[in-house]
Amino acid sequence: MRRKLVAGNWKMNGNLAGNAALLEGIKSGLDNPRCDVAVCVPYPYLAQCQSASTGSFVALGAQDLSAQESGAYTGEVSATMLREFGCHYVIVGHSERRTYHGESDELVARKTVRAIESGLVPIVCVGETLAEREAGQTDAVVRRQMDAVLAKLDAAGLVKIVIAYEPVWAIGTGKTATPEMAQEVHAAIRARLAAVDRDAAAKVPILYGGSMKPDNAKELLAMADIDGGLIGGASLKAADFLAIVKAA
Ligand code: 13P
Repeated sequence: MRRKLVAGNWKMNGNLAGNAALLEGIKSGLDNPRCDVAVCVPYPYLAQCQSASTGSFVALGAQDLSAQESGAYTGEVSATMLREFGCHYVIVGHSERRTYHGESDELVARKTVRAIESGLVPIVCVGETLAEREAGQTDAVVRRQMDAVLAKLDAAGLVKIVIAYEPVWAIGTGKTATPEMAQEVHAAIRARLAAVDRDAAAKVPILYGGSMKPDNAKELLAMADIDGGLIGGASLKAADFLAIVKAA
């Protein structure tokens, strides 16, 4: 059995006082959880969240990284810097990065490799827009996004990544993919991974993201290929986030 992972993506939310209270609430509700738990926080709060999460069941992650190692890249943050602040995970290729920052499949693939080389676990996001789903292009879009990454990885690299299927139309909208809809895409992702390496494919956690909430988490997480969640809005309330962790 793959161990489940519930990762919060705080996006561009939070402040020092609020983060302290949120992390305190999460930590106090976690007693030897049976799944992995992480929070992916904005860069300025990494130091705060590093000290607040050290020694707890909460692992730390960032929401993006540079594809470059170091140098004249104003505004960018390197994998090495993230490691220094205790990051274990880093989100790569979130649809908000792809949409608002024009990140290409190729750039997402390079960031994935950079993360692995630096000892970070990349949470690679894929997913179709509403227009793409309605045009029957879901499989093709997810496959194209996956293939760019897979082209740069061998089996040894494959087992070091996490994939998150996040249908763009379900993010922050309150519209969730039904468990069956999500499972169908997750199974296709698993099959694509298996074409590279069967054993590795069985080990890669595939998370679902997109309006996962306490009231729908259990059904989604019961599906064969849904190995956890990447949680936006519901990760900003300790009680909601803990309820999803419990469901996992
Ligand atoms: P919501 O849970 O707010 O829909 O966000 C999902 C997401 O984008 C997580 O990365």
